Amino acid sequence: MTVRLEVMPAGAWAGEVASRLLAALDANRGMRLVLPTGDTPSPVYAELAARAADRFGEAVVLGLDEWVGLPAHDPARCDGRLRRELLDRLVAPPAFREIAVDAFPSPDRAAREHDVHAQAGLDLVVLGLGGNGHVGFNEPGSTPTSPTRVVRLAEATLDASVERYGATLRPSGGITLGMDRILAAGAVWLLATGSRKAAILARALHAPESPECPASFLRRHPALTVFADEPAAVRLGVSG
Ligand code: PGA
Repeated sequence: MTVRLEVMPAGAWAGEVASRLLAALDANRGMRLVLPTGDTPSPVYAELAARAADRFGEAVVLGLDEWVGLPAHDPARCDGRLRRELLDRLVAPPAFREIAVDAFPSPDRAAREHDVHAQAGLDLVVLGLGGNGHVGFNEPGSTPTSPTRVVRLAEATLDASVERYGATLRPSGGITLGMDRILAAGAVWLLATGSRKAAILARALHAPESPECPASFLRRHPALTVFADEPAAVRLGVSG
């Protein structure tokens, strides 16, 4: 297992992850990267919006996941949230390949089209960690070969759409980048903050690999970096 674990004080975490992302962009201006939405990356995006200037200009950003069944301007939509929190705030925004759930006659078709973009190559996939071990919308039951697809979402994920992200109605499902594409990327970063992620992060990194915790399969990746703040890392037996 070649997991690189970086643990930081909570107050320094977002600034440090933003710095690392800017350094990666400086090293590869045309980077093709996948960015998540959710509460975990939001403070990183606030840092980037203030500091990134034109450094994303030549990059291509792909969406990680998207709700199915939410209207285009629903506040929980992943595409809108990434635009609001980061892309629309950059002087020179990157090209954005969102999961175009409204542009095709069916969610299946939107998933297939997104997979074509992903297949062209991914330099970096940045992920949050679901409380149930999901990455993207690769919910429990997903395996390392699970493709980009339409998924049935776990109840806890559907609850979060309304209770934490402000969805105006309950989504009917989701579209996610597949585990296969995530594991084929050049590098993977897993972000985890706060004490509510401590137990699932320990399980993802230390329990036997299992479809019950899809994040555990990330350990197969040869270039996985975990960026955790101290409250999230408390069960890992390390200190920053
Ligand atoms: P969060 O969600 O960043 O809002 O905690 C993570 C996830 O469910 O992937």
